[in-house]
Amino acid sequence: MTEQLRRRLDALIAEIEGHDHRYYNLGQPTIPDAEYDRLFRELQALERAYPDLCRADSPTRRVGAAPLPEFATFRHGRPMLSLNNVQDEAGFLHFANRVMQDSESCGWCAELKLDGVAVNLVYRQGVLQRAASRGDGLEGKDITANIRTVRDVPLRLSGESVPGRIEVHGEVFMDARGFEQMNRRLQVRGASGGFANPRNATSGSLSLLDSREAARRPLSFFAHGVGALEEATQEPQTQYGQLQWLRGMGLPVEPHSRTLPDNAAVCAWFVGMGRLRPQLGYEIDGVVLKVDSLHTQGDLGEDSRAPRWAIAWKYPPDEVETEVLDIEVQVGRSGVLTPVARLRPVWVSGTCVQKASLHNEQGVRDKDVRIGDRVLVRRAGEVIPEVVRAVGRAGPFVMPDQCPSCHSGLVRRAGQSGVWCSGALRCPERRGQGRLALD
Ligand code: IVH
Repeated sequence: MTEQLRRRLDALIAEIEGHDHRYYNLGQPTIPDAEYDRLFRELQALERAYPDLCRADSPTRRVGAAPLPEFATFRHGRPMLSLNNVQDEAGFLHFANRVMQDSESCGWCAELKLDGVAVNLVYRQGVLQRAASRGDGLEGKDITANIRTVRDVPLRLSGESVPGRIEVHGEVFMDARGFEQMNRRLQVRGASGGFANPRNATSGSLSLLDSREAARRPLSFFAHGVGALEEATQEPQTQYGQLQWLRGMGLPVEPHSRTLPDNAAVCAWFVGMGRLRPQLGYEIDGVVLKVDSLHTQGDLGEDSRAPRWAIAWKYPPDEVETEVLDIEVQVGRSGVLTPVARLRPVWVSGTCVQKASLHNEQGVRDKDVRIGDRVLVRRAGEVIPEVVRAVGRAGPFVMPDQCPSCHSGLVRRAGQSGVWCSGALRCPERRGQGRLALD
């Protein structure tokens, strides 16, 4: 009997996983939603009746569990490092030359720098066991219940080369369409009024203690590296090979990742990806260049914060023009006063910007920003938007030199501040045929 039940459970899981793949990954469902719901409910009922038979990788585990009182702390098997970054070609070439001095060959693995939230996924015997946020790089928060709800994250790895234990590093993010739809839903419900950008939305969603709400957030995932690894039967020799290996086990990898033979190819690729950036459908803030050979990576090593074998090359921040509606002064927690420009709302790098910092009194004076000015604003990574500089000022008001209605000359009278139309009854406004008679 138990064996029969287990077989039915396995068959249901396999069938639901197949439908999930066709629905979420291929966009080609083969059964109606009602039929899918029936299969799902049958699985839920079986698991409720026979909790001992419940599998950790069951698709029912994606729908979210009861709220947690707080997140537990998780210590990463290997530190989750940060990246040093450069802003231009000279910066990249400087980094590349330093790498070349310390190593022989230098082929690159080029990846996009996803603007999301870093996570660590722990798989034991191929089954997702834990998931944690990056935290300070050594310890993060255990966000397993929320990560289970992310459709792109496989609950079980597939293939012949699944290691006994692996920590997979990657990025959770929200694509532009999902972000807009979710924000509309949140705004309609009036809950938090929505998020300023997809990155904040991702971070907010992963911080939810109620994973049933997290399950409603349109989160995606791309893997970009391997942390701690145990009992591996196959170990790739290159960074790119590692990405292919992860992909082979069913983990999604950003599709533009590729190998590049030399620095010239990297520079051309950086420009090409910059052009493609607006059409990606998700936000990137640059590219990441990693020395492809894992052996050379080992030789180069890392400092406490970042590896010496990788660099993030950032795209310059978008600068967009808008108008200063007002200048307010905000008081921070430390008591410091910060002048803040209230702006005509404008989209900058995927965020609707309505306020931007002018930093301090001297900053306002140096930039000579005044209410009514047209200004450039920019959002650089995580920092709050800032006013770059004023680019236009409305000039002083000037009276016309002829009547705007009948184009007759104007008359000024000594000792009086008024200005009169000289057209008498030739002027339609004065005959009362105009829009508004003021005299
Ligand atoms: S590799 C050992 N690759 O950027 C190298 N990071 O600024 C560590 N990120 O915390 C990271 N896309 O969250 C790597 N293709 C990519 C990435 C990427 C985005 C994030 C990651 C990291 C942050 C560092």
